[in-house]
Amino acid sequence: MKTIGEHYIVEASGCDPEIIGNVERVQHILVRSAEKANVQVWAVSFHRFPPNGVSGVIVISESHLSIHTWPEHKYAALDIYTCGEHSKPEDAVNYILGEFKATSVHISEITRGIDEGDEIYYHSIITWEEELDVSQDKLKMESVLKEVKWLKDRSPDNLLEKTVELLYDNFKHYNWVGIYIVDGNELVLGPWKGSEETEHKRIPIGSGICGAAVAQGQTIIVDDVKKDSRYIACFPSTKSEIVIPIKKGDRIVGEIDIDSDMPSAFTTRDKVFLEKVADLLKESF
Ligand code: SME
Repeated sequence: MKTIGEHYIVEASGCDPEIIGNVERVQHILVRSAEKANVQVWAVSFHRFPPNGVSGVIVISESHLSIHTWPEHKYAALDIYTCGEHSKPEDAVNYILGEFKATSVHISEITRGIDEGDEIYYHSIITWEEELDVSQDKLKMESVLKEVKWLKDRSPDNLLEKTVELLYDNFKHYNWVGIYIVDGNELVLGPWKGSEETEHKRIPIGSGICGAAVAQGQTIIVDDVKKDSRYIACFPSTKSEIVIPIKKGDRIVGEIDIDSDMPSAFTTRDKVFLEKVADLLKESF
């Protein structure tokens, strides 16, 4: 049996505090990262570290992944130790940094369990720093807004369909995107994109998260749909949802509804962006 293992000690800076402050989301990201690293998960334990932090450990057959976050400093401290020829700990590190939207990182990669055949073990360390290209989502939001503006001016007839496509195609945490149109006391489903059709093509205003967003006239974010009694279930994979009303003057004329398979997927960044998109759509009603 080979004794060599890779241990990554990672300081991730500039992380999105809403993401690294959310216990369920951090847990989800770390468990997914274990899949990316191609390792077997044995135990998962994540907790709130008061007041805002998250602490968690995943025991894997090849050792562990652990995390501690300080959202108030946009900082996450990560520690991943694996061995085995098939494990890819660097893939887990890169995935986590991307999901946390870290802007820079300091990494030490320690190769452990080295010996020269005499069963006396040592390790070697390399350390580096990187600025990260985290503005991916931010850049995508800017370019989608530009595109929606362009369509509104040049091709308003299919603006709603195209916007649904742009949102679905550009953001991997948007797993179902639809636009509902207000029709009397009901919401009627217009264009949508996702892997499955919903049965809920007509929703009474006042029912569901969709109805509540119209009744309240404001964006609703639901971090955990299972815990919200208003929620009308459409897809078993949905974990969180955002609904953004489309306002024309004082009237609500429709709404954008997005489901995510990721818990607590939607942050203020999504809300601000999607409210801008909704505003560009109002003339289509
Ligand atoms: N979940 C919504 C119903 C619409 S589906 O998500 C497409 C709600 O609670 O209103």
